[in-house]
Amino acid sequence: MTRPMQILMKEHGRIRSMLSCFEAQLDRFGRAERPDYEILEGSIAYCQEYLDRWHHPRENALLDLLQTRAPVEARACAGLEDQHLGLARTTGELVKIFEAVERDAEYPRAHLVEMGQTLVSDYHRHLNWEEANFFPAVMDHLRSEDWRTITPRFADVTDPLSGNPVDHRYRALFRAIADS
Ligand SMILES: [Fe+2]
Ligand SMILES: [Fe+2]
Repeated sequence: MTRPMQILMKEHGRIRSMLSCFEAQLDRFGRAERPDYEILEGSIAYCQEYLDRWHHPRENALLDLLQTRAPVEARACAGLEDQHLGLARTTGELVKIFEAVERDAEYPRAHLVEMGQTLVSDYHRHLNWEEANFFPAVMDHLRSEDWRTITPRFADVTDPLSGNPVDHRYRALFRAIADS
């Protein structure tokens, strides 16, 4: 498997771990137990600042390459960018709700729980779809020169959950994933 695909697959593993830690804290919040707000906040920041800014754009760039090599297969994966836009929109909504919860103790809990659950299920569906459809198509059709072109894009910024994070916002989430 090429290095970019190894990176994407490993990130999918970490995204699933993040989602389960996030969901556990969301459940606590929904039951009016005290959640670990750092995990909630770290998960949302990870979606917005790493996945929306780095993970998904790299996949979009792979789709552009697939378009030149295998247009029919690329058309079958044409929904990829819309799925990414949808995830970014839901994450943006969640950020607003999370900020409202932090500002106002009376803010309805159900809004955060519902939007959080929507994000979790949308992400699971998206990851499964990519692994069943998009990843096999790019692995089958991209050529070695395509991988050479795209590899530098995977080296500029690394997943903050791939090692002990420098950014303090991800530390509680990183520890929770390591302990899970
Ligand atoms: Fe994606
Ligand atoms: Fe992905």
